[in-house]
Amino acid sequence: KNLSRRIAQPEAGERYAACGKIILLGEHAVVYGRPAIALPIPLAVEAMVRREGQGINIVIPRWGLEQPVHANTQGLSGILAKILKDLDLDRENMTIEVFPHIPRAMGLGGSSALAVAILRALDAQFDLGMDNSRINELAYECEKAAHGTPSGVDNTVATYGTPLRYQQVDGKPIFRDLRLTEPLQLVVGITGRESLTADTVAQVRNAWTQHPDRYNSIFDQIGSLTEAAEQALEQGKLGDLGDLMNLCHGYLNALQLSTPELEELIHIARANGALGAKLTGGGGGGSMIALCPDNPDAVAQAMQAAGYETLSVTVG
Ligand code: MEV
Repeated sequence: KNLSRRIAQPEAGERYAACGKIILLGEHAVVYGRPAIALPIPLAVEAMVRREGQGINIVIPRWGLEQPVHANTQGLSGILAKILKDLDLDRENMTIEVFPHIPRAMGLGGSSALAVAILRALDAQFDLGMDNSRINELAYECEKAAHGTPSGVDNTVATYGTPLRYQQVDGKPIFRDLRLTEPLQLVVGITGRESLTADTVAQVRNAWTQHPDRYNSIFDQIGSLTEAAEQALEQGKLGDLGDLMNLCHGYLNALQLSTPELEELIHIARANGALGAKLTGGGGGGSMIALCPDNPDAVAQAMQAAGYETLSVTVG
């Protein structure tokens, strides 16, 4: 089985890719069983596994990271060690090299993309015959180790790479592809302020634990905006979609997930004609998105003029 893949896999190793993600609507509420809409950022991370060296090493040249993979260590190395043990690869010699193409800790799904790309490279190099569903399952385990209580939306988009509606129902992930009537033009504004999803998810959980009714009603509101956005998206009603994004940001702000930089970027986007703008992902820094079907360049340039990096993404 998988003979063609083995032949196509030279000793030197090949790169395997995974997608990052943009949450269009529904972040945080999705952790509490409400739906979210997520869009892929193609080719966000690539990884390559070579059978060489002594023991297992991970190298991420762009981050200046080079370290042995050991069980019982914090962070990436410990998470990888656990996965390699589960795959019965922990006694192999290998170098795992990772090439991230999106900034880390900016709410763009880098950690999930990293896990999926590494799993794909391992699958190919060791001929494990894993399908997307297995890769997604293992990437979810990595997310749990990194973030505590993830909804699973990030690893699902990283694996399948299509626009998705995602929801956990009775603890099970239910997701389906979304059909866009036309390509969506988004500008991502990057605050440059790193934010760990684990922290903002814990912050929201604290508040929810103290006042469950109060916060459940906010999650319900975000949930119904997301349902409406799903329709707007599939019917190509971009004005509506922008309005729903703006409202959603209001609730995320109520959850205390916004920052002065995010607010500035959102203001710039709206002042330059974006149909909608909101924070995306974990918040507390990270990134925001602006829906700009007609004028992405003008919006991106205005953000850059204020000192921010941007990413223009066309989905669909
Ligand atoms: C992070 O990309 C999205 C959050 O909703 C967390 C999660 O769903 O696991 C903030």
